[in-house]
Amino acid sequence: MYDNWEALKTECMQCRKCGLCETRTNLVFGVGNENAEVLFVGEGPGENEDLQGEPFVGRGGQLLDKFLTAVDLDRKKNIYIANIVKCRPPQNRDPKPEEQDACIDWLREQTRLMRPKIIVCLGRISAQKLISPDFKVTKQHGEFIEKGGILFMGTFHPAALLRNPLQKPDALEDFLALKKKIKEVCQRTY
Ligand code: URA
Repeated sequence: MYDNWEALKTECMQCRKCGLCETRTNLVFGVGNENAEVLFVGEGPGENEDLQGEPFVGRGGQLLDKFLTAVDLDRKKNIYIANIVKCRPPQNRDPKPEEQDACIDWLREQTRLMRPKIIVCLGRISAQKLISPDFKVTKQHGEFIEKGGILFMGTFHPAALLRNPLQKPDALEDFLALKKKIKEVCQRTY
């Protein structure tokens, strides 16, 4: 347990709890406002994120920023973005269950220090780890589920939207539902 972000980040940046540390360029700890009420969680760094040390900086990240802007959210101001695993899986394969398990305590500590009101899971891997193991994004996206005093919502991964642009209107609906929910439960977001 850590009592501040600085200590947590310093320790995390040296993590060697799983094999992904062998191939990383940079560990991707997270970005944003540590006092935000809304936390976004992706799957794990890709090539650009590994090179730059920041989540969602590739084409998927640009798309994510567009959706965020559409609902007055900004990665530098009023949200925080992290991933299930903090180091890039080689060739962007899915992170293995044991890698997710080795890494999840870092996210747990980030969540504990941040105390978000809402967590948005970007894509299947994140939603299945944080909401439920059988979560189906195509069926359950946009639904808010309360767990331990936090509202969770799963939506499409930006990379999936780049592959299947027909799902973009559904994703926008999810972000609009998020905006409405923020107005209901968050005091400080806008
Ligand atoms: N995909 C993710 O899930 N996370 C990132 O940070 C980048 C791409």
